[in-house]
Amino acid sequence: METRTALITGSAKRIGNELALHLAKQAWSLAIHYNSSKAEAMALRDYLKAIYPKQVFKVFCCDLSDNPETLISEVKKEFGQIDLLINNASVYSPSSIKETSVELLNEQMSVNFKAPFILMRDYANLCKKGIIINFLDTRIKKFASDYAAYSLSKVALSHLTQMGALEFGSTIRVNGIAPGSTLAPPDANTNYLENRAASTPMKEPGGMQPILKSLDYILDNTYLTGQILFCDGGEQLI
Ligand SMILES: NC(=O)c1ccc[n+]([C@@H]2O[C@H](COP(=O)([O-])OP(=O)(O)OC[C@H]3O[C@@H](n4cnc5c(N)ncnc54)[C@H](OP(=O)(O)O)[C@@H]3O)[C@@H](O)[C@H]2O)c1
Repeated sequence: METRTALITGSAKRIGNELALHLAKQAWSLAIHYNSSKAEAMALRDYLKAIYPKQVFKVFCCDLSDNPETLISEVKKEFGQIDLLINNASVYSPSSIKETSVELLNEQMSVNFKAPFILMRDYANLCKKGIIINFLDTRIKKFASDYAAYSLSKVALSHLTQMGALEFGSTIRVNGIAPGSTLAPPDANTNYLENRAASTPMKEPGGMQPILKSLDYILDNTYLTGQILFCDGGEQLI
């Protein structure tokens, strides 16, 4: 199998980690990006190296709220080319419009929108061809303000996904995946996912499989660009 390289932001833990394991299994080499989870990123790299010795796995540290402008060039320097960029890293803080501080607004917009914008720009300028997948959220369809800054950062990223697809045309396909509740926040109650799913049309949590299937579909369907795939059991409809 041909080896291609993917950069996944925030891939030391949780969804990013699952994406990394899934792509590695399909012969991808990986740039594992982290910010604070150094030990988890190193452990993932060592684990993947041991199982897939013919592929290349490297870790890259970058605070996306501070200086995202170095990441694409550093990864490209190490790998030569980046065939797939997945903007997965994110911050997720509750706050209504009235409660939102300038600091919280800046943080949500920096990590969730500004950094992916810069990574997309640099990817287009430096790598020139490939695939971009942006991680969104089913919240982009709603007007609920309990995560106002987070939701708006993902709305902007969704719009950017389609704008990028239009600008980059046939050279870089750009698509989004918009999950519903997939993994519970670290401090959540035991039945968090079941309780969230109860109010959705499909009434049960979907877990990682719908997301991994959407990833495979985007990679396989070479005519797909500017699409947002909702993996949310229909939550977008309510
Ligand atoms: N979890 C869900 O159920 C769910 C639902 C809807 C949408 N999503 C979307 O799916 C994606 C993955 O979700 P998740 O729950 O796995 O995400 P997460 O655990 O909240 O965050 C993923 C990673 O983002 C990185 N990150 C945060 N701030 C950063 C910064 N300043 N610079 C660089 N990296 C930073 C962290 O890396 P370090 O740990 O290395 O600091 C973290 O491990 C996100 O885009 C999220 O919005 C998730």
